[in-house]
Parts: sequence; C-alpha cells; structure tokens
Amino acid sequence: MADTASLPDRVTIYEVGARDGLQNENGVVPVEAKAEFVQRLLAAGLPVVEATSFVHPKWVPQLADAGELITLLCDGELGEAARDLPVLVPNERGLDRALELGLRHIAIFGSATETFAKRNLNSSLDAQFAMFEPTVARAREAGMDVRAYVSMCFGDPWEGDVPIDQVVRVGRALHDLGASQLSLGDTIGVGTAGHVTELLTAFNEAGLADDDLAVHFHDTYGQALANALAALQHGITTFDASAGGLGGCPYAESATGNLATEDLVWMLHGLGIETGVDLTELVRTSTWMAGVLGRPSPSRVVNALSGRMRA
Ligand code: HMG
Ligand code: MG
Repeated sequence: MADTASLPDRVTIYEVGARDGLQNENGVVPVEAKAEFVQRLLAAGLPVVEATSFVHPKWVPQLADAGELITLLCDGELGEAARDLPVLVPNERGLDRALELGLRHIAIFGSATETFAKRNLNSSLDAQFAMFEPTVARAREAGMDVRAYVSMCFGDPWEGDVPIDQVVRVGRALHDLGASQLSLGDTIGVGTAGHVTELLTAFNEAGLADDDLAVHFHDTYGQALANALAALQHGITTFDASAGGLGGCPYAESATGNLATEDLVWMLHGLGIETGVDLTELVRTSTWMAGVLGRPSPSRVVNALSGRMRA
C-alpha cells in the first residue's frame, strides 16, 4: 500500500477533454455538443475546464469555432462565468481574439524540442519565446492569468530522448515570462515514474516549487496513472486529465489518449484525496460524449462504472 501520510487532502484536476480531446477528433463535433460537454464537466464538479483554442483555424479546424463556443456558453446557464474558462493561445493574434471576448485565463504552449516547435508552432525552439513574450506581457497587462504548457518533456517521436536540462531550460524560460503555472506534458506518453520524479526534482532545483507545477500525461504506454501517482508522491497537486481519456495531439502522430479523468479520480478518491468531482456524473458525461463521437471511451473506469450503472 502506498504511504498516504504525506499525500495532500485535496488536489485540483485541470480538465482538458474539451480542448486536448476534441482537437484530435477526425470530425468536427457540433458547437452545441461542445457547449453541453463543457457545461456537464463543470456540473460534475471539475474545478477548471479548458474550453477550446484560439489557434490558427487551418492548423486545428476541429476548434475553428472557438469564438462561437464561448459566445454560446456566455448566452447559456454559465453566463459571465464562461469568461473564466481557460483557452489555449499561441500568439498575439490568438490573444486579440480572446481579449475581444473578455476572457480572463489563457494558456500558452511551448515545445521542449526543436522538431515539435516547428511542427506545432511553425517556429524554432528559440524563436518560440519571441512569439510568447509579447503575448504574455500584453495578457498580464490586461489582468489575465497565464498558464504555460511544455510539450515533449519525456521524449519526442522524431528526436527520441529529451535531455532533462533542455526541458528545464524551456520550462524555466516560459515560467519567467510571467506564467502562474507550468504544465509539464508527456505529449506522446513515453514517460515512466522514475523519470517523472527526476524531472520534477530538476525543476525544484531550478527554483520552481511544486505549487508552480502541474503534470499532463498521455496514456500511450499505459503509464499515465503510475506517473500521476509518482507526481502526487513528489508533491504535485494539479493534474491535467481528459474526460473519458479523449485526446492525443494533431501534430504528434504517436500521441494517443490523455490520462482519463475518471481513472485519476478513482485513484485519488481511493487514496482518500478530495477532488470535488462527482464520478457518477462524470461517467455519464463521458458515456454521452462517446455516443456523440460514435465510439466507446478507452477509460477503464468509464467502462467499469457505466456497465455497473446499466446493470
Ligand atoms: P503560422 O502559419 O506561422 O502563423 O502559424 P503566422 O503568424 O505566420 O500567420 C499566418 C496567418 O495566420 C496570418 O493571417 C495570421 O493572422 C493568421 P494572414 O495575414 O495570412 O491572413 N493567424 C491566426 N489566425 C487566427 N488565430 C491565430 C492566428 N495566428 C496567426 N491564433 C501558429 C503559427 C502558432 C498560429 C500555428 O502554428 C498554430 O496555430 N499552431 C497551433 C497548433 C495546435 O493548436 N496544436 C495543438 C495544441 S498543443 C498540444 O496539444 C499539447 C498540449 O496538450 C500539451 C502536451 O500534451 O504536451 C498543450
Ligand atoms: Mg496534451
């Protein structure tokens, strides 16, 4: 049994299904279904729900309706609270779109590798900072909160191993621009528990506290939950996850689903850690979304509990 004495009483789940999940679908989910998904995730008790991306619509056509979605959410039961939902923004053009809608939380997304910077941002590793610097500066001047993701922290499909000091250099630089939280992404899901502890320790040694950090695992090799436990035992209290295990990344071919929120919640509740999430409602939501997408959820917990609910 894991040593639970030093674990936190409560953690924050940062839900990315509506963004990281739906950006990777072959088809475009109707905007009304996206709005219902976001509302249901919030109603299931998820404290933070990333709604969409203000990226170039030709790069990610699945989320080209970002503005329409926010407007629909503001006109619905959420009202003004919809402007507190975080959205992905890569550059000043994306920021302008978010500002026009009065949004208050954005997330930039950098790459720890040269190849992924080119493929995901049409930039080089070093040039990405020149794109993010004015974006973050203007966002902060406007009173926005900024999160920063780092992708390919544990391995890159084109470059292989990614040196820890390179990841720390990129993460530190993004954090220093003025981000309140740095989310460390295992974009292709190759990381293992020991590597997680090593990377988090390296960030601590570079001056970032555990509260400055979040982890973002993909489940390609079935390691996401083990990695989440390693991060929890290290002291991390913010975990990205995707309802039903939706997701991948359109510019990282070998990336499969994100850590399923239900699987994470099952583990956390089993450890006596509060999340605020109503697991039954969340499973209903993911089962409904699986129906919208026309295929079953890959989450073990969704399958186990939805079977039990039907019985
Ligand atoms: P670019 O083509 O180099 O852009 O793309 P540009 O700056 O050269 O501009 C070209 C045209 O695009 C211009 O229009 C701009 O206005 C327009 P024109 O003057 O030709 O008419 N444009 C935009 N339009 C709307 N919204 C914008 C925008 N920006 C420029 N924001 C860019 C550069 C960064 C925009 C592009 O590469 C891009 O959109 N990339 C996004 C890719 C993406 O969304 N990937 C998935 C998210 S990352 C992820 O999933 C990983 C994560 O989950 C963590 C993990 O798992 O590791 C976060
Ligand atoms: Mg991701």
